[in-house]
Amino acid sequence: MKVGIVLGTRPEIIKMAPVIRSCIERRTEFIIVHTNQHYSDNMDKIFFDELELPQPNYNLNIGSGKHGEMTGRMMIALEEVFEKEQLDIVLVQGDTNTVLAGALVASKMGIQVGHVEAGLRSYDRTMPEELNRIMTDHVSDYLFAPTEKQAGIAQAEGIDADKIHTVGNTVVDAVYQGVDIAERNSNVMDRLSIEESGYILMTSHRPATVDSKANLSAVLVAAQEVAKKYSKIVIFPAHPRTVKMIETFQIELNDAIKIIEPVGYLDMLMLQKNSFLIMTDSGGIQEEACILKKKALVMRENTERPEAVEVGGCVLAGNSDSNFIIECAEKLLVKDVDWYNPFGDGTAAEKILTLITR
Ligand code: UD1
Ligand code: UDP
Repeated sequence: MKVGIVLGTRPEIIKMAPVIRSCIERRTEFIIVHTNQHYSDNMDKIFFDELELPQPNYNLNIGSGKHGEMTGRMMIALEEVFEKEQLDIVLVQGDTNTVLAGALVASKMGIQVGHVEAGLRSYDRTMPEELNRIMTDHVSDYLFAPTEKQAGIAQAEGIDADKIHTVGNTVVDAVYQGVDIAERNSNVMDRLSIEESGYILMTSHRPATVDSKANLSAVLVAAQEVAKKYSKIVIFPAHPRTVKMIETFQIELNDAIKIIEPVGYLDMLMLQKNSFLIMTDSGGIQEEACILKKKALVMRENTERPEAVEVGGCVLAGNSDSNFIIECAEKLLVKDVDWYNPFGDGTAAEKILTLITR
C-alpha cells in the first residue's frame, strides 16, 4: 500500500499532520505532494517545522493565480507525479483548489481517492470551496465524513453508502496533539504583551468578505466596536489576501485593532485558548474554537459546519451588517459555555488509516 498525500494550503497541512503521523507510526508507505498553493513561510514552512512533519517529496511550485489556471497547472504537475509514483490511493483534505486538482487527476488515472473532511455543504455555490467539495466527494472512493450529518448529506446526494465513513475531523486530533505542546512552547502572549481574556482574536480571508470593500469595512468596524464596548483590543493575524485588500481599499483602522503577520499553529492555539471572544470566517477556526470551548462569531452568511452553531459555541453573524455582528456578540457573550465537541474524539487519522489499509 502506497499512499499519496496531496496538500497545498495552511489548513491542509495542519489537518493532514495527524494523518501523516499515523502513516509514520504504522509504517505505511507514503509520499507528500505539496502544490505550494500557499508558499509564504508563515503560511507554509512554519507548519512543517513546528509540527515536525517530513519535507514534501514533491514541491510543485504552483503558487497563486486564477482558479482555472491554478487548478489546471496543478493537474498537469500532479499527473506527472502520479504516473511516476504508482500510488494505491491519494488522500486530499478539505475544499481548496489543491483538493479538487488532486481528486480529479487521481480518479481519472484509476487511483483510489480518499477525501478527508467529506460531505460538508454550505449550500452556497458562489463559494469556490463549495464546488470543490461537491466535485471531490463525487469522484472519491472513500469519503471520511467528520459527523453523521455530513455522512447523511453525501448519501442523500446518491453516493454509495459503502464509500462513506464517519470518522470525526482530524482537526480534533491536531488540537489534542498540539495544545499541550503549545502551552509549553508558545511565547505568543508575552511577545504580543497580552493577557488571558484581554483581547478578541479575529481572522478573515473569505473572498465574500475581504474582496468587498463594504463587507471588509463592516467586519472591521464591528470588531472595533465590540472591543470598545468590552474594553479589549483586537488581535488580527491577517491572511496575505486580507492585508492586500485592506491596502487596496485604503481602509483606515483605529488603535483597537492590532494587525499582525499570520502566526504558527502553536501560537494560534494559545491565542484561541486565551481569547475573550473569537471573530472569524475561517472553517478550521470555527471547529477549533468549539473544541477549545471558546465562543466564536462566524462572520459569514452560511456555514458548512452547522454543528458548531447547533451546539451553541458559534453564532452566524453575517459579514455585511456591523450592527448585527455587534448584537450577535452581545448575545453570545452572556451565554454559558456548556457545549460538547461534536467533531470527534481525536482518533480520526487512526480510523482513516485503518480503513484504507484493511
Ligand atoms: C485558499 C483556499 C481557501 C482556504 C484558504 C486557507 C481555494 C479556492 N481557496 O484561499 O479555501 O480557506 O486557502 O487559508 O483553494 N498569498 C500569499 N502567500 C501565500 C498564499 C497566498 O501572499 O502563501 C496571497 C496571494 O496574493 C494570493 C492570495 O493570497 O493571490 C490568495 O491565495 P489563494 O490560495 O488563491 O486563496 P486563499 O484566499 O489563500
Ligand atoms: N491558523 C494559524 N495561524 C494563523 C491563522 C490560522 O495557524 O495566523 C490556523 C488555524 O488555527 C486553523 C487553520 O489555520 O487550524 C485555518 O486556516 P484558514 O483560516 O486559513 O483556512 P480555512 O480553515 O478557512 O480553510
